[in-house]
Amino acid sequence: MPRIFNPVDISKEEKEVRKDYFDRHTPYVICDAYAIEGEKFEVKVRLGNEYNHPDDPDHHIKYVQLWNRETFLAEAHFAPGSLGNKPEQMEVDFYIVPGPVSMNLSAMSVCTKHGLWQSESKEVTVKKR
Ligand SMILES: [Fe+2]
Repeated sequence: MPRIFNPVDISKEEKEVRKDYFDRHTPYVICDAYAIEGEKFEVKVRLGNEYNHPDDPDHHIKYVQLWNRETFLAEAHFAPGSLGNKPEQMEVDFYIVPGPVSMNLSAMSVCTKHGLWQSESKEVTVKKR
């Protein structure tokens, strides 16, 4: 079982000292705060705010998942070299269609060397058409 890294588990001091390491592994959920019930909704997941993650044969981001609370929604897998064998910010655009209930989206990502990383969650209010 890999250790799961979660932004809330990391102290402020540790975050500052190892800022680049944490940043390049942390998934960020980027989307609007409002969605329309029954209409396609774009959710971008990007790894890192400032720093790039390596894309080497023995060290790369293997997959990115999107969750709505405890419900798994989607997953994208990557082979090493898919980002040109050079450090880059992994980005995935997911398209989901929300039901009537508001969502709490979060992302998980796996680095082949540094384990499983969890994003902060993002609340999305679903409105009627
Ligand atoms: Fe890594």
